[in-house]
Amino acid sequence: MRHALFRPFSCISLAIRFSLLVFPEISPAASPGWLTAHDTEIKALVARMTLQEKVGQMTQPDLGAMKDLSDIQTLCLGSVLSGGGSDPQSGNTLSDWSNVHQECQNLARKTRLAIPLLYGVDAVHGHNNVLGAVIFPHNIGLGCTRNPALIQEISQITAKEVRATGIQWTFAPCVAVPRDIRWGRTYEGYSEDPAIVASLGRAAVRGLQGDNLAGSQSVVGCAKHFVGDGGTIFGSTRGEGTLDQGDARIDEATLRAVHMAGYPPAIDAGVATIMPSYSSWNGVKCSGNKYLLTDVLKKELGFEGFLISDYNAIDQLVPPTRRQAADLSDSAAGQVRTPDYKKCIEISINAGMDMVMVTERYREFVSLLQELVHENKVPVSRIDDAVTRILRVKFAHGLMGDNPRLMPDKALQAEFGSPFHRSVARKAVSESMVLLKNEGEHLPLKSTIRRIHLTGSGADNLGMQCGGWTIDWQGGQGAITQGGTTILAAVRNAVSPGTTVTCSTEGADEQGADLAIVVVGEEPYAEMEGDRTDLTLNGKDAGTVSAMKAAGLPVIVLVLSGRPLVLGEVAEQADAIVAAWLPGSEGDGIADVLFGKTPFTGKLSFSWPKTMAQIPASRIGKNAPLFPLGFGLTH
Ligand code: GLC
Repeated sequence: MRHALFRPFSCISLAIRFSLLVFPEISPAASPGWLTAHDTEIKALVARMTLQEKVGQMTQPDLGAMKDLSDIQTLCLGSVLSGGGSDPQSGNTLSDWSNVHQECQNLARKTRLAIPLLYGVDAVHGHNNVLGAVIFPHNIGLGCTRNPALIQEISQITAKEVRATGIQWTFAPCVAVPRDIRWGRTYEGYSEDPAIVASLGRAAVRGLQGDNLAGSQSVVGCAKHFVGDGGTIFGSTRGEGTLDQGDARIDEATLRAVHMAGYPPAIDAGVATIMPSYSSWNGVKCSGNKYLLTDVLKKELGFEGFLISDYNAIDQLVPPTRRQAADLSDSAAGQVRTPDYKKCIEISINAGMDMVMVTERYREFVSLLQELVHENKVPVSRIDDAVTRILRVKFAHGLMGDNPRLMPDKALQAEFGSPFHRSVARKAVSESMVLLKNEGEHLPLKSTIRRIHLTGSGADNLGMQCGGWTIDWQGGQGAITQGGTTILAAVRNAVSPGTTVTCSTEGADEQGADLAIVVVGEEPYAEMEGDRTDLTLNGKDAGTVSAMKAAGLPVIVLVLSGRPLVLGEVAEQADAIVAAWLPGSEGDGIADVLFGKTPFTGKLSFSWPKTMAQIPASRIGKNAPLFPLGFGLTH
């Protein structure tokens, strides 16, 4: 679909490139053409490949859905992913992940051409699937740091912890620009401001991929989800209160200026893979939109890596009729199977998709795509282009030499979850905290205060600090991983020996305390499970704040959330309010700013609405939000 619009993209792109030049916060981008350096060798290799071998490279099953790992060898599969929660059967430790990766690679190396796999995971805030990994703040908090150099450092550490398991590819950074905070994926976005997303997304790519993608501490990055995933209209998918995977009904100028902003900088930084979005643009699914995937991304923007579909996303390209849906629904998975999977494959591959995250239907995919080629419905030239792009990344990542580095790096394993890695996460936590209110100057707290009482759902809850995409797809409550500090533990670490710190989860009450810290917020969620029609702070948390106020205590409210929440009376009752977002495992970083060890420097990356009537932000108009984008007090 091509709109007869002037092509605003060039000026927007120039503006973004200019802004990135003005803030040379990070090393220069990868040199142009770095991904095509091996094209001569690749051309010769592709010429030797059978159709089965080519299609195998384009197929990505999910570890947990594989009927038999030996299919990697028999079908010459080019990649395997572990989606959220798809852990090794043996367990979730560093060695469990290292072993399963090694097992998959060994099978790939037994194929005729011995082309290694690219194993992909969602390491979106650290190597977050693995017990003991450092869990960094989610992107919404990192957006409040406005610190590209820090985001690059975080991404470098994430890459190291991913490579410690041997795994080479993460589906990050998410460069969505969320425009309606009712969306369950708001926290995966850095900001509602495209310029912040452009700057920090680029930094993340530089950190993950390093100056040399073949380096032992580099991983393949993936900018996602192309394009407009953060601009969908409320209620435009299956259920009423949904945004996720919906339809972005916007003109091309807005799509380019806002939602495409993260892609030119990411491509400029050398991002090797890009993930098209489940969502649609004006009714056309991105995963089947040839204009977007081929004309814009590959031709106009010059992207030379490969496109990886989202999880079963191509299944949505031919929606079932109502009658078919009734017949086809797979009650076990709660999914409605597409009636014409073969047509879905044809549409997506011809649109420009290069590798498909088929998860469990990989055997079917391999045979149907070969049929489509034999029937001349998918040209061999498109297959060869896709395989060339995939091999470009494998060559650039050093996988194709005589002795590719496929074993986990013992030196990196020794650094996994290290104190130094945690110290960087702690710094990121502090810089992501935003001080919204501080009446009576109760902050910074004195470490010699006589007694502090902590309460609220998040006071001693590592899972709530980490949010979704942590150990499990949807995250979890309580002590979900090894290492790290809860807010309660962090406050106890920060006070002097003479101070008493009590917590209601330990049965204490606030009688006799000098001050209360109430940690409120959201239970963990991911993707569509986080779509909400109402973002008002839950009644239990609001009641706890009122109770502490009624007890006559100064009340410090910390908000652990994946987005701004409507605070209602709490905004008045609290003496101090800190937006803590989803800070991850290093709670000490919160205590550092509460006790003045480091100053508050965070600035809101999203405007904070007063009421539900001000959501989405586009509705704010003349009425001022409770706190505007960029707001943040210092001590
Ligand atoms: C998910 C997400 C995507 C993720 C992929 C693999 O559905 O949309 O962000 O990378 O599947 O887990």
